Amino acid sequence: MAAAEKEEISVEDEDVDKKIFKDCRKIAFYRRQKQWLSKKSTYRTSLDSVTTSSTSAKFKITNEETEVPLLAEVYGIEGNIFRLKINEKAPLKPRYEVADVITNKLNTIRLTSCSEDIGSLLLANGTGDLKCRILADPFQIDLVSEEEVVMSINSRGQLYFEHLQIPLKQSRLTKENEADAAVGTSQENQDDLGLWEEKFGKFVDIKANGPTSIGLDFSLHGFEHLYGIPQHAESHQLKNTGNESAYRLYNLDVYGYKLHDKLGLYGSVPYLMAHKRGRTLGIFWLNASETLVEINTEEAVEPMPPQMGPVAAEQKVKIRTDVHWMSESGIIDVFLLTGPTPTDVFKQYSYLTGTQAIPPLFSLGYHQCRWNYEDEQDVASVDAGFDEHDIPYDVMWLDIEHTRGKRYFTWDKKRFPNPKRMQELLRSKKRKLVVISDPHIKIDPDYSVYAEAKEQGFFVRNHEGRDFEGICWPGLSSYLDFTNPKVREWYSSLFAFSAYQGSTDILYIWNDMNEPSVFRGPELTMHKNAIHHGNWEHRELHNIYGLYQQMATAEGLIQRSNGKERPFVLTRSFFAGSQKYGAVWTGDNRAEWSYLKITIPMLLTLSITGISFCGADVGGFIGNPRAELLVRWYQAGAYQPFFRGHATQNTKRREPWLFGKKYTQLIREAIRERYALLPYLYSLFYHTHVASKPIMRPLWVEFPDELETFSVEDEYMLGSALLVHPVTEPKATVVDVLLPGSTEVWYDSKTFVVWEGAHTMKIPVALDTIPVFQRGGSVVPVKTTIRKSTGYMTDSPYGLRVALSAEGSASGELYLDDGHSFQYLHQKQFLHRKFSFRSGILINSCADERGHYPSKCVVEQILILGLKKQPSSVTTHSSDSSDQPVKFMYCAKTSALKLERLSLNISADWEVHIT
Ligand code: NOJ
Repeated sequence: MAAAEKEEISVEDEDVDKKIFKDCRKIAFYRRQKQWLSKKSTYRTSLDSVTTSSTSAKFKITNEETEVPLLAEVYGIEGNIFRLKINEKAPLKPRYEVADVITNKLNTIRLTSCSEDIGSLLLANGTGDLKCRILADPFQIDLVSEEEVVMSINSRGQLYFEHLQIPLKQSRLTKENEADAAVGTSQENQDDLGLWEEKFGKFVDIKANGPTSIGLDFSLHGFEHLYGIPQHAESHQLKNTGNESAYRLYNLDVYGYKLHDKLGLYGSVPYLMAHKRGRTLGIFWLNASETLVEINTEEAVEPMPPQMGPVAAEQKVKIRTDVHWMSESGIIDVFLLTGPTPTDVFKQYSYLTGTQAIPPLFSLGYHQCRWNYEDEQDVASVDAGFDEHDIPYDVMWLDIEHTRGKRYFTWDKKRFPNPKRMQELLRSKKRKLVVISDPHIKIDPDYSVYAEAKEQGFFVRNHEGRDFEGICWPGLSSYLDFTNPKVREWYSSLFAFSAYQGSTDILYIWNDMNEPSVFRGPELTMHKNAIHHGNWEHRELHNIYGLYQQMATAEGLIQRSNGKERPFVLTRSFFAGSQKYGAVWTGDNRAEWSYLKITIPMLLTLSITGISFCGADVGGFIGNPRAELLVRWYQAGAYQPFFRGHATQNTKRREPWLFGKKYTQLIREAIRERYALLPYLYSLFYHTHVASKPIMRPLWVEFPDELETFSVEDEYMLGSALLVHPVTEPKATVVDVLLPGSTEVWYDSKTFVVWEGAHTMKIPVALDTIPVFQRGGSVVPVKTTIRKSTGYMTDSPYGLRVALSAEGSASGELYLDDGHSFQYLHQKQFLHRKFSFRSGILINSCADERGHYPSKCVVEQILILGLKKQPSSVTTHSSDSSDQPVKFMYCAKTSALKLERLSLNISADWEVHIT
């Protein structure tokens, strides 16, 4: 297609037209599985085939109808994880297995057989408190913890496995395999079942390998609260899917996506958590092909034995949630994370897929983006606008228009004649630049990136073996095959300063359109029969394509600094494990209140599935927010991990100072509060990096025994100290805030008013109110002086916000390093301090002796909330100076003690005594 035709390509074309995207009924493997499962044909285990080794137990399972043998393997993995793999015993050729997601060489634990019951086999892990019971006929696995069955696999008989077959035409020729052509299907409805060919609108998917789908069910006993499987514009708690409305995991570019929909958005993490009082579980379905998940909660009445008295009164209602996973291809490879606590499950998941990378500190500041800042002059004036209005910000962003005709790694010479000069301007304010780099490469032999990739065979191919061609921003394009390690290595090298003309070390990267987005392709993405490295069809790995681009980009940024500097890469598409490579945002949302509101559940879901560094376009990408909405969005965004304002083309300019003084002030306040909180936020990133707990936490994670928290999604915990309830309604004068925990006390972070936990409070709000509550028992480190950007704040003093528990104690932490390099890792150049308050003494001590980092910073202010009586004296004690009396201010009304003009070095041990 000619480049000129591209002019017709407008993003509005992509506007959610229901017909562009499939619902379940339009997905052939879904129809096939449903039809087959209605026949209730079962699998049996050959217990005499069981072999156990130091790493796994293997056995054969066979379908009674097809008689095709499958090989099942059960592994016990360190940290109370089980893995179940099911594949064909002897496939015609290898089936796709996801590589590059599981980080560690997993330490397996020998499973010992501990019962000889006829018809079942009991395998115990090392300690013996977790067991897998394998039932023979029909095949079923029960996960038993302390004698209680917590999960059953295939108890609903939904194991489904389409074995590879000789292509239909050949089998017809030989006649022999004709009966085998479809799994239990007559010839007439094969078309409808899309075995070798599947139609969707004008698109025909020709399947070289025929039907290859798989499925399995999991029953979670006693559970009714499930979370996870992003990305959907849906509630945090997963809903029952009923009939034909499964959650879809298929990475798609859905412009202005509809809310409360199960359609898959830009990324997929095929992992969910189930939670009840006393136990949390995780199921990680490691498969990168299109996946559907059905969820159904049922109440079953369990009859009690007659001796228990009159039936009706004694019947026990048991809740069970059934989860049914179906994938278009690959093998069954599933990890069972057995908890028992939410924290354990986070650790188990990150043991498998890695933890959130610690980002450079600047990337936790505020980011200013727009499609597009016009030119160098525009960039300079927006940059100056922040200074004029005394609003801190760290990063300027350039969208696709900065390039020469959407050729990534180039600059539009007219608009950006001197990109280095522009970066020097930003550098002089200790700020950074992020530019976009998409996976589609304009077909233009004179474009060196294209020419080189073409010559080396680095593009995805179509099913006929030629380079795949599709349309995206530059017009006709080919797509880099990031699944090929050689392509990734080459792509990484493009970020070298010598290769990327006009780039400097303050330039970082944004990967967009990497689902991949292919305009006019089926569902706006790549044809499933396109071919990748290793001859794998796109259908096998669609959901992991974007992860590979971000992986190569992050590696490129590391390499250009000779391994010294941490990368920053934002990606739109993601998969399990993307947390290792940077940040994720929620794509093309709208400037509407409902889209502001849904940021909370969407980000909570990403957060519990490992992706802590996440955010949503502040202000809403599509449309023009009114001032009130924009202010509320800044206030919400200030407490979300990735904080970037962004707007699409043809929207009105909306830099923070364009709505009048009053609104500028409100936005300034929200951004400044974000900058004040950076020490706390950065410490949380360190914590999630080493200990896996997400940064944005649903209330149920912090209060796992409190039923009323399990469905909350209009508020959340930022770390364990702050409860945030953003205002997401227009003209709000009051919000209902659940302050959980019967033994907790909560302090309004602005008014210092104290509330008892386990209550829902009506909190009055004005336009300048961000309802944030500090939990009694916590210490939050902050910066007391806010400057232009994070770079200027390295030496700014700290403040400590101490909120006392009902018992009068508190504790907290601070993590600190140079904010940009890997020295924290290789040279242990970091500081990890611990603050604890008890019996009137606040102590700053070392939390990790391994770390050393010189810091001149001092703690200048200490605020203590919840101090019941006015002290008579306050003194500081430190090893390197004599005891000093401190002036203090005490407010009896709020029970708040304020210490100011202190000069206590952050890295030294000291105490403050309050008597
Ligand atoms: C789609 C992205 O979601 C959006 O953020 C970006 O501005 C446009 N692509 C143009 O690059």
